[in-house]
Amino acid sequence: MKVLGIDIGGSSFKAAPVDLRTGRLTGERFRVPVSSPCPRAEGLAAAKQIVGHFRWKGRVGIGFPGIVREGRIGIVGNLGAEWENQNGVRLFTGATGCRVGIANDADAAGLAEMRFGAGQGRAGTVLMFTFGTGIGSALFHRGQLFPNAELGHIPWAGQPIEQFASAAVKTKLDLDWAEWAGRVNVYLRVVERLFSPELIIVGGGVSQDHKAWFKLLRTQAKVVPAKLHNDAGIVGAALVGE
Ligand code: BGC
Repeated sequence: MKVLGIDIGGSSFKAAPVDLRTGRLTGERFRVPVSSPCPRAEGLAAAKQIVGHFRWKGRVGIGFPGIVREGRIGIVGNLGAEWENQNGVRLFTGATGCRVGIANDADAAGLAEMRFGAGQGRAGTVLMFTFGTGIGSALFHRGQLFPNAELGHIPWAGQPIEQFASAAVKTKLDLDWAEWAGRVNVYLRVVERLFSPELIIVGGGVSQDHKAWFKLLRTQAKVVPAKLHNDAGIVGAALVGE
């Protein structure tokens, strides 16, 4: 089955049709930049534009950057508070005219990596992190997802730790790889102490540069880049729409 996956990020909506048997994109990605924070009307218009671009009539899956429970959006990080406490399925069904499934963006990316990528066959505790505007996290044990594990919101020096160690912070403070990896080490030390993962999968744009900074990480667990690279979010979103 083919599902259109829409991965919503802090600064853009990225989408492509995905073949769920193979976990591969079946067409070119399409990206719609949005304001940050993104007003609801603008985000829904972006979803509509994406569906129009692909002339899509089938199912749509959405990876959303906030808490999502049974299709309802809860607390939202960087996308903006206007999205909070809304029925996500209803909003995006209205905007796209398609049948929609929705889940947290990092949970979706994690599901994609467990099914098609670096987490395949891993029965122990696996953590996936996406480093972008925030830090997304997905927690698995015996292949089962523990949903909405918001580990980017662990408090650190009076703020969510994502405001200390996300990829956006690297850009904003113009940190070099060593400086930023030092911050990521602080973060990973905290999560390792809490969850003792056997494997840590890293996604987001910075996972493409893994050769520059993974060697600077000091973890017990093995750290690997997402096998689906930056597509994990789109493939995972499609899985959620199945
Ligand atoms: C949100 C998470 C999201 C992550 C990555 C955080 O600010 O709270 O729900 O997964 O950003 O987008």
